[in-house]
Amino acid sequence: MTGTNRRTVLQGIGVGGAAALAGCATESAPQASTETTRQTTEQAMNQQKQTTADRVAADPTDIPDPIDRDEPAEVDVTLRAEEVTAEIEEGVTFNFMTFNGRIPGPMVRVRQGDTVNLTFENPEENDLPHNVDFHACYGPGGGADATTVPPGETANLKFKATYPGAFIYHCAVPNMDMHISAGMFGTILVEPKEGLPEVDHEFFLGQHEIYTDKRAGESGHHKFDMKSMPREEPTYVVMNGEQYALTPDKYGAMNVETGDTARVYFVTGGPNLTSSFHPIGNVWKELYPRGSLASETQKYVETTPVAPGTTTVATMEFPVPGGVKLVDHALSRVARKGCMSVIAAEGEEKPEIFDPEPNA
Ligand code: CU
Ligand code: CU
Repeated sequence: MTGTNRRTVLQGIGVGGAAALAGCATESAPQASTETTRQTTEQAMNQQKQTTADRVAADPTDIPDPIDRDEPAEVDVTLRAEEVTAEIEEGVTFNFMTFNGRIPGPMVRVRQGDTVNLTFENPEENDLPHNVDFHACYGPGGGADATTVPPGETANLKFKATYPGAFIYHCAVPNMDMHISAGMFGTILVEPKEGLPEVDHEFFLGQHEIYTDKRAGESGHHKFDMKSMPREEPTYVVMNGEQYALTPDKYGAMNVETGDTARVYFVTGGPNLTSSFHPIGNVWKELYPRGSLASETQKYVETTPVAPGTTTVATMEFPVPGGVKLVDHALSRVARKGCMSVIAAEGEEKPEIFDPEPNA
């Protein structure tokens, strides 16, 4: 995009207005989205980006280690807005907006009482202003006001993680629904002071929906579609940014062995659809509803709602071998819109627990 266009975009959006409106407190009415602003932003969003990426799907095992500290600390975190063109599925490209090039954005992991020193970069090659709204802190817009920066600028924010839990962070400029739908969401995990129970594996996944101007599967470049988003009729509903990204047919399943335990962190970016999160052929053995790590867990839950703006935490065990499909049980999203991940459990058959051929 040329410098002239970028200036036009910035004027149209009005960075000052963005700062005033940013954050969840005002998410009900992004007033700055006038028709003109919307068109200008949509145009900017739909320019073919110079930067292309092989992949936007985050590796679900790329998570910081559990915290092994008894004292509070200052934790430096760098998040970088990256606007990239990548594939939703083979032959279908889309202009994503991401934190650090991945969907969901990186998991930030701190301990209750820690201070987060955030550096938020909006590189010069981007076209739009961005920011970060953390649900893990007290303060206007969760930091969105303080971190709103145009391309080429960097913002800093310092906050104390005073309460424990798993929380979403997301971009919250006036067109926040569009930015989240393009991929701008992640999770900050604030471990309780006593830490979390030990498990063999941790996986981090994020669901969101993508609104495009073509049908799912139609090859070519899909532009962002500002008409189907307010109607909440997405073209794709995906985990980790791409259709069936974490399955054997694409980047591979998540791997465990029978007898292992796993903890799943699952963030719904939305911007609009609640996930009915279910493990096929398994159960959420312990569920921290809505990521509330300070509350009692619920036991053996089949399906849990994960509303937009929520990170849920749940544990699983794998007594028998086989694939466990993690789905949104609104199943048209699975069958037709790309929403599924797989955990593959390897190990000995246990016919006393599950016998697929009792008469063999
Ligand atoms: Cu929010
Ligand atoms: Cu943004």
